[in-house]
Amino acid sequence: MLTLALPKGRLAVQAAALFARAGLDLSPVLADGRRLRFDLADQGLTVLSVRGADVPTYVEHGAADLGVVGGDVLAEGRPDLYDMLDLGIGACRLVVAAPCDAEEVVAGALRVATKYPECARRHFLGQGTPVEIIKLYGSVELAVNCGLADRVVDLVETGETLRQNRLVERETILDVSARLVVNRASLKTRRGAVDDLLNKIKGALT
Ligand code: PRP
Repeated sequence: MLTLALPKGRLAVQAAALFARAGLDLSPVLADGRRLRFDLADQGLTVLSVRGADVPTYVEHGAADLGVVGGDVLAEGRPDLYDMLDLGIGACRLVVAAPCDAEEVVAGALRVATKYPECARRHFLGQGTPVEIIKLYGSVELAVNCGLADRVVDLVETGETLRQNRLVERETILDVSARLVVNRASLKTRRGAVDDLLNKIKGALT
């Protein structure tokens, strides 16, 4: 049995569809949003249903052998694990966005609201732009329109949230997709089972 950390929400639905094409039935996980652990003995899998941002923690510490996680979460936390496979799902971009009529340059440090403080800091540091990072946990687009920040750094998928909040994309920091990550020890000690799962999923990708 391998243990898989699966993020709750939209990515779980897309991952379950991909795993189904690989011959693995994760439908019990989607069917019960309250249960957090699923022993799917017939699939050779135990699934842990966790918050996306927590997936690397479970995998890094070996509580899960593998995980499905957004490239944004990996870029932010830089966890110590193997990034094995681009799953081709959960595609979006991490961008810098500003109000439509925003000045190009602001006086003093640029105030940047984001759920991704490390990615934002690295990006602006690389440009030599002084920033004050304002950490938020959601609804980031609101921050500029109520005077909390000059820019936001957030994920864009369809662009609808930016449009509705009268923001425009200024720069792309990162193209994001979901990845299959593996615990470093599991890759050595459970190589056969991990390879078997990876090959099934690779087969579903092509
Ligand atoms: C994500 C992201 C954007 C939105 C982008 O938010 O942070 O707000 O989706 O999608 P779009 O380009 O298709 O409009 P999420 O729904 O996870 O909620 P949150 O803002 O509360 O984090």
